Amino acid sequence: MSLNTLEEIAEYIVSDGKGILAADESNPTCGKRFDSIGVESTESNRRDYREMLFRSSGMKDNIGGVILFDETIRQNAQDGTPLIELIKNQGALPGIKVDKGLAPLDSSPEETLTQGLDGLDERCKEYFTLGAKFTKWRAVIKISDDIPTDACIQANMEALARYAKIVQENNMVPMVEPEVLMDGNHSIERCYEVTSKSLNTLFKCLKDQGVNIAGTILKPNMVTSGSTAEAQASIQEVAEMTVQCLKENVPSDLPGITFLSGGQSDVNATAHLDAMNKIGGFSWKLSFSYGRALQQPSLKAWLGKEENVPQAQEALSHRALMNKLAANGAWNLDLE
Ligand code: 13P
Repeated sequence: MSLNTLEEIAEYIVSDGKGILAADESNPTCGKRFDSIGVESTESNRRDYREMLFRSSGMKDNIGGVILFDETIRQNAQDGTPLIELIKNQGALPGIKVDKGLAPLDSSPEETLTQGLDGLDERCKEYFTLGAKFTKWRAVIKISDDIPTDACIQANMEALARYAKIVQENNMVPMVEPEVLMDGNHSIERCYEVTSKSLNTLFKCLKDQGVNIAGTILKPNMVTSGSTAEAQASIQEVAEMTVQCLKENVPSDLPGITFLSGGQSDVNATAHLDAMNKIGGFSWKLSFSYGRALQQPSLKAWLGKEENVPQAQEALSHRALMNKLAANGAWNLDLE
């Protein structure tokens, strides 16, 4: 696999319906996931869990990239093989989360601005040497009656664009993630409005910074009802409104759009992706970059026990295959 340019790397990750396994939970977030199954979040337990995922047979052909956290890109498997070698052996490219998390926004402290531009160039140089081919930066936009503010959207999208430029100068593909959170009781129309404004601002900022769009991957939220809204939009409505929102805002030379799952159930995240690909009529690949929606069944099956590893790997393999089928518009509920 010789991938020399940013365009080739980006296209490879989403080729043939492949998607991304997001396994870049920070240690505190991994701790929360492990709490739910009664496992202590130690460095070796985190290693064992991720080794189990990366050795799953269903990684092959279905997963084109894996996003790692700083700790994981430096870890070895129990037999001493670097974890990133396990990923490469499965035909997937290693990626790395490079942002430093969220801090309150000065002008509106209930909102956040993603941190991490300081020292980013140096960190990128090291990650490139360690074998990373792509990177991720997550901006968070919250919805309630009087937010998001324009200042929040502008500051976060400017940071995403500066990040993307620095990453490309270091020969890695930037994944830009402007996540509009599902939290709240807002309507799907309100999610559409905020997502549309965020994407529109993002692509203006990327253009201003001279970012190569053909060497970039977008990781957006889907356009959905707020998670606590009484009226929940149907699978078909989510698919139609998401595709429309993307068509309005995303340039056609972007190679791939890989959604976050954002708290959707595993099967809903697959059903939405499938419905969008059945609609079709767009130039980018529409695929997945799921964390919870890929890992949850596997985590539940694992429970930190060696004897559960085969079932846990089967659970991840199944979700990876279901989502690859969905990225080709070839999934249906009977396959579950
Ligand atoms: P979820 O799919 O669990 O939302 O995680 C994806 C991710 O990487 C969020 O940054």
